[in-house]
Amino acid sequence: MANPEDARPAAPVKSPGAGTTSEASRAAPKPPAAAKPAPAAATKEVKPEPNKLRRRLIWTAVWGYLAANFFMFLRFFFPRALFEPSTVHTIGYPSDFSLGVNEKYKQAYRIWVVKEPDRLFVIYARCVHLGCTPDWKPNENKFKCPCHGSGYTPEGINFEGPAPRPMDRAHVELDATGQIVADSSRLFMWDRAKGGRDQFNDPGAYIPL
Ligand code: FES
Repeated sequence: MANPEDARPAAPVKSPGAGTTSEASRAAPKPPAAAKPAPAAATKEVKPEPNKLRRRLIWTAVWGYLAANFFMFLRFFFPRALFEPSTVHTIGYPSDFSLGVNEKYKQAYRIWVVKEPDRLFVIYARCVHLGCTPDWKPNENKFKCPCHGSGYTPEGINFEGPAPRPMDRAHVELDATGQIVADSSRLFMWDRAKGGRDQFNDPGAYIPL
């Protein structure tokens, strides 16, 4: 006959200095969870779809075109202004100059002041052949163009080389204080080759002394 004692569940075995096995498993530290791999979509570069890309390009072109037109429209309100150097200069009193050719204002204003016993005039320092600036040669008493060799007398009258006529003269007048005002935008010329009239004796072409 079976012993009723055998049917009872066996009592948990206690190890010395520890609780039951279930308590032990609860107290034991859990191993760290393994890092999950990042989803593949996060690491991949997101490329726009071809349709989106095309649409973006079209919009960029449209906006670029509109912006260019807008700036062209704005330009009407800011007209291009050319700030040219002044051609009108006060160059001193007639008594400041001695007889002959004076080069004081050649570099700054591109003019020579020429004083004669009875008049003072201003030559515009531009060769009438192709526009170079001639040099004054005091030892040779003439102007000489370095480009093609045209020569001019101290009065600016051409006598050698390809220059077709004398050099032009600037408008001159005296201001209220008696100083000479030269304006190289108002020129007097003598186009002999074309039968032009000598303008060198016109009012404004010289200052009588
Ligand atoms: Fe002076 Fe030609 S530009 S000679």
